Amino acid sequence: VGGRIRPVSPTELSLHNTQNNAWLAIRGRVYNITHYLPFHPGGSEELMRGAGMDATELFDKVHPWVNYDSLLAKCLVGPLSFDRPDAD
Ligand code: HEM
Repeated sequence: VGGRIRPVSPTELSLHNTQNNAWLAIRGRVYNITHYLPFHPGGSEELMRGAGMDATELFDKVHPWVNYDSLLAKCLVGPLSFDRPDAD
């Protein structure tokens, strides 16, 4: 089943910050990491530090060599967009 790829704003991303519903962004791509959490070699708590945000810096500080894009290929939600300045 192919996922529906669609843009995600920083505000929407920020709402997905719990163990049961965790998204993060790396280099402009948003991933749903919920199902990867138990498999993260560094533990779910470490991975949760990046939940709900652009975790690029955090990720690169720990392990820039890890191929997150292939590991999380099926977890891609879509590109990180911008918040609309006029959104209410
Ligand atoms: C290992 C933290 C995101 C995949 C680790 C370790 C830490 C860590 C501390 C070392 C564990 C150890 O050696 O005892 C974090 C933090 C993240 C994050 C804070 C927040 C952004 C990710 C993501 C992926 C990932 C998004 C890929 C889907 C891995 C892999 C290892 C690892 C494959 C083993 C790396 C190796 O041994 O070379 N992580 N991680 N991590 N993490 Fe993450």
